[in-house]
Formats: sequence, structure tokens, C-alpha cells
Amino acid sequence: MEVIIQPDSEKASFLAARLIKKIIQEKPKPVIGLATGNTPLLLYKFLVKMHREEGLDFSQVVAFNLDEYVGLPADHPASFHHYMWKNLFSQINIKPENVHIPDGLAKDIPSYCLQYEQEIKEAGGLDIQILGLGTDGHIGFNEPSSSLSSRTRIKTLTDQTRKDNAVFFGGEENVPYHAITMGIGTILDARTCLMLAFGKKKARAIALAVEGPITSMVPASALQLHPRAIILVDRDAASELKHLDYYQWVFEHKPEWQKF
Ligand code: GLP
Repeated sequence: MEVIIQPDSEKASFLAARLIKKIIQEKPKPVIGLATGNTPLLLYKFLVKMHREEGLDFSQVVAFNLDEYVGLPADHPASFHHYMWKNLFSQINIKPENVHIPDGLAKDIPSYCLQYEQEIKEAGGLDIQILGLGTDGHIGFNEPSSSLSSRTRIKTLTDQTRKDNAVFFGGEENVPYHAITMGIGTILDARTCLMLAFGKKKARAIALAVEGPITSMVPASALQLHPRAIILVDRDAASELKHLDYYQWVFEHKPEWQKF
């Protein structure tokens, strides 16, 4: 794992945007896995800025989102469809046919999930998967106890996750109980995993994911098994890491060719 600690979320998000830009410029048909939540909002702002001011071209980008609530239509203001179009897709030149977000209204969820996996495969696999981190250690909607080799499927949200997301639904009673999410195995198949986490409330989950044992009770700890997992955090989210100084030392001495 590469742990990169930045002074604040703005600097961390800019670094994340630079890495994605590099992948988009290097690959003829880049396949990018995207996440929702508050955490990647600044990253998406930087990508939009790079598109507008530097001509970063998204016309060949194929996008796959991590997850979506079950039962929400795409135009529901709290749906991840709505979030993605509002915060990124409507502001860049991605082709709508290259956008994939799980369908919260899918009738036959198991076969829909198989098809989603197939579509990722047919696109050539994910070049990079962007991840946020739940306060309970989840990635996507893979809640604690998720199989570390799980594939796209339906999951039941924990009480904590429903509480964390209540604000987007005008109250906890309106938050769906289920979501379709890429599995941990699906995420680990990405060529690069880039997890972002900001703020004190993520500090414990980050410490457990990075320095704790690999366990399905902390789904993000599965990233320890990934050959290229980058954990990009601000100082607050890094505050419970024991080996903070070492991670900073590594970053400062990164060989020139590894920089992004
Ligand atoms: C939701 C999403 C996750 C996201 C998490 C953290 O549960 N399914 O993909 O990482 O929230 O959200 P936030 O970034 O708002 O803290």
C-alpha cells in the first residue's frame, strides 16, 4: 500500500486528479471506476477544471460506478445517478453510452449484477477504481462481514451507513435498506485502487484499514492484498496511523519516474 498524506483535502484531491489525468492520457480507452459521497467532490471539480482549462479529453473514457441504492429511480435527487451527472458527467465530454451506473430499479437483481460484471470485463477491466471510505470501514457498499472475494450484488446497509446518509434523504426513515454494489473482489481486480479519506471521522477506519489485520469486518483492509493500492488522506484522516512518519518519508523520497 502507498499511503500519501497531504496537508488538506484540496491538495490530496488535486493529486488524485493528476493521477487520473495521467491514466486518461496514457490509455487509448481508459476504464475508470468512480465513487460517490462527499469525499470525491473536490476531485471531480479538479477533473472538470482540467477538462475546461487544459482540454483533458473524456471522449474515450468508459466509466463504471461502484454502487447505487435499490429502489431509487435515476432522477431521484439522492440517487448516485443524479449525483454523477450533476457533479461530473454533465460537465465533461464523456459519451453517455460509456457511462455505467448500477440500475437501482433492475427487476432481476442477480442477473443484472452478473451483466454489470460482464460489462466491466468486456470494457477491458478497470484501469483505476476511486474509493471513498465509510466510517465503518466499508468500500462501495461492502459493509463489514462482506466476503473479500465478493462480486457485484445486493447488500443490506448497516444502521450506521443509513444514519451517515440520512442527510441526503431528509431523514433516516427515507434511506433505502439495500444497494447494488461492486464486490470487494470486483474492486481488487482494478489495476490501481485509489482510496480517498478526509477528516477526523475517518481516522479510525483508515488506521484499521491500513495497519490493522486483513478482515472482512473492515472491508477496506482488503486493499492490503492489492498490488497497487494508493491511500490518499489529509492530516486529520491520517491522525491515528502509527507509522505516519514513515509514509511521509516514503513520499518525499519517491523516485522521479513514480511521481504523478
Ligand atoms: C457511501 C458510499 C461510499 C462512500 C461512503 C463515504 O456509503 N457508498 O462509496 O465512500 O458513503 O461517504 P463520504 O465520502 O460522504 O464520507
